[in-house]
Amino acid sequence: MTYHLPKLPYEFNSLEPYIDIRTMTVHYKMHHAAYVDKLNKALEAYPDLQSKSVYELLYELERIPEEIRLAVRNNGGGHANHSFFWPSLSPKGNGEPSGQLAELINTAFGSLDGFKAQFTQAALGLFGSGWAWLCVDADEKASITTTPNQDNPLSGDLFPLLGLDLWEHAYYLNYENRRVDYVTAWWNIVNWNNVGGNYLSFKAQAKVDEVSGKVKGFLNKVKGG
Ligand SMILES: [Fe+2]
Repeated sequence: MTYHLPKLPYEFNSLEPYIDIRTMTVHYKMHHAAYVDKLNKALEAYPDLQSKSVYELLYELERIPEEIRLAVRNNGGGHANHSFFWPSLSPKGNGEPSGQLAELINTAFGSLDGFKAQFTQAALGLFGSGWAWLCVDADEKASITTTPNQDNPLSGDLFPLLGLDLWEHAYYLNYENRRVDYVTAWWNIVNWNNVGGNYLSFKAQAKVDEVSGKVKGFLNKVKGG
């Protein structure tokens, strides 16, 4: 088996009351595990692709053979997004952004509150299943974006720092159809140290290839892939 479920950095009940143990258990053991299984199955006949990180696969999706491209997009995306999501949560949250991440957010959105308001609006405005993201582009300009299904911003040349799962499987058992209550609760458990670490890793490792215009030297090092 090439890709595997990363270990959760906390217990299934650690995020209560914001995310309940049943939701966490089903989400991780059934939903995330299924994406991993299906990604491995899709790549069975492609050993050369198996050596790549799942983020590398998604970044250059157009280079994936057409017969498995949709499977990689959906299941590779599901694996990458959830692997990215778990460590972005922390049982007690981590206060507020600091250092260079705080500067990035304040420059782009005016303040942390301004960022939270815009991000929440984007999350609530997403129709159907998908994700909301804080990203930077290759020039380190920050933006908020949403993606449908399990698409990852990497496939659109944006590099995620923070992502929020907006599929109903992430909240319906506890919040039913009240996405706004889930998003409001989620802010309490954002692991800002992790988000800041994602930004510092990008700044330290990402290099733009002058010929292709693509970022190199970063995606194979993204955690959890
Ligand atoms: Fe999910």
